[in-house]
Amino acid sequence: MKHTIAFSRTVTRLDDAPRGGMQEICISGRSNVGKSSLINCLAGSKKVARVSQTPGKTQALNFYSVDDAFYLVDLPGYGYARAPKTEREQFGKLVDGYLETRKSLVGLIQLFDARHGPVSGDVSMLEWLKTWDKAVFYVFTKADKLSAQQRSTIEKQFYGEFGVENVTLFSARTGAGLDRIWKWIHRVVRKT
Ligand code: GTP
Ligand code: MG
Repeated sequence: MKHTIAFSRTVTRLDDAPRGGMQEICISGRSNVGKSSLINCLAGSKKVARVSQTPGKTQALNFYSVDDAFYLVDLPGYGYARAPKTEREQFGKLVDGYLETRKSLVGLIQLFDARHGPVSGDVSMLEWLKTWDKAVFYVFTKADKLSAQQRSTIEKQFYGEFGVENVTLFSARTGAGLDRIWKWIHRVVRKT
């Protein structure tokens, strides 16, 4: 099935988030891990979400509507040390408030770079996610940069750790793993 994904709005204060009550799935991960590329891949178009060469550019919540039925929300990338401290604190607060209070948020897709697995900032995110009571899906990005042997090692390790249903390797270059991500999204959006 073809999906229509369109940019809806940029939000820098929670008060400005959409009020219609449509369900949301957000996308979380370090700067440069491939959040915007994933949205473009889901959209089947390179033009929907901005993919930057400069990390840390997406410093707000970006809402994208999917088939006018639910939203995908691109979160600011964390772990970007070069952003000014006050800015980092402000965005930290925005994201924390969003994750902790947003009623229409039904699930989160957590991205890791498949070449490194969970690293520093990811570890605290993983710890926090254990305390979160909504659905989480784990995606290992840039799988095209790994050998078949490396991919198989990652699958064995993380399918075991997170459960086969809840994790996939993914490449925005080849589209590998995209069907598994859609499957999870449909499961979560339908269920709630
Ligand atoms: P921020 O918005 O800064 O937090 O980054 P982001 O997580 O949105 O990352 P983005 O999608 O902008 O991708 C960062 C860089 O990684 C870009 O140069 C992409 O082309 C590249 N990239 C993303 N996904 C893949 C992938 O699956 N394979 C390869 N080879 N490169 C990728
Ligand atoms: Mg981005």
